[in-house]
Amino acid sequence: MATAPELLGGSPDAMRAMRDADVPEVVAIERSSYQFPWSEGIFRDCLRVGYTCRVATLGQQVAGYAVMSVGAGEAHILNLCVAEAFRCQGLGARLLTLLVERAAAAGMKEAFLEVRPSNTAAIRLYLAHGFEQVGMRRGYYQAVAGREDAAVLRLGLRASRSRSG
Ligand SMILES: CC(C)(COP(=O)(O)OP(=O)(O)OC[C@H]1O[C@@H](n2cnc3c(N)ncnc32)[C@H](O)[C@@H]1OP(=O)(O)O)[C@@H](O)C(=O)NCCC(=O)NCCS
Repeated sequence: MATAPELLGGSPDAMRAMRDADVPEVVAIERSSYQFPWSEGIFRDCLRVGYTCRVATLGQQVAGYAVMSVGAGEAHILNLCVAEAFRCQGLGARLLTLLVERAAAAGMKEAFLEVRPSNTAAIRLYLAHGFEQVGMRRGYYQAVAGREDAAVLRLGLRASRSRSG
């Protein structure tokens, strides 16, 4: 079993573009992480339409992934997920930083995302990266008992010359 330092030490393919061949592994992580997971078709559509789709890998294994759309000056972080075995090792933060840098480098002025108010781990991650809550979408998410609201978070972006990812 590889250790965290090996994972985070930055092997050449530690963060790379998601490929079609990654989708089954991504979907397996998605299904074990969310009660209402995205389908395989959604991931394939995200790749097809050219969304920013990245995976964090450990050797050949996918450990986490992130999906973002950019356009009209705004980035939307649509998914960010780390396999349970690799959580709390800084990987989610690295994926989020990568997305934010990509959005800024693409000239986006702000980044938005939705998060369940009950998802304290994700909210702490986003707040630590400078996101602020700017709204609430009522009944946005499917939930076991009816619907759950979504907190809308925003981060202002500054132009960046980063080429990472
Ligand atoms: C949210 C998620 C991506 C975080 O990934 P991760 O790799 O474990 O996060 P990191 O190790 O980079 O932690 C970064 C920060 O996130 C917060 N955080 C992460 N896990 C946490 C937990 N279990 N409890 C509280 N805060 C947590 C902390 O602020 C942490 O910083 P710190 O270590 O300095 O305290 C991961 O928990 C996950 O995949 N969850 C399931 C999918 C999901 O809910 N995605 C978000 C959808 S909006």
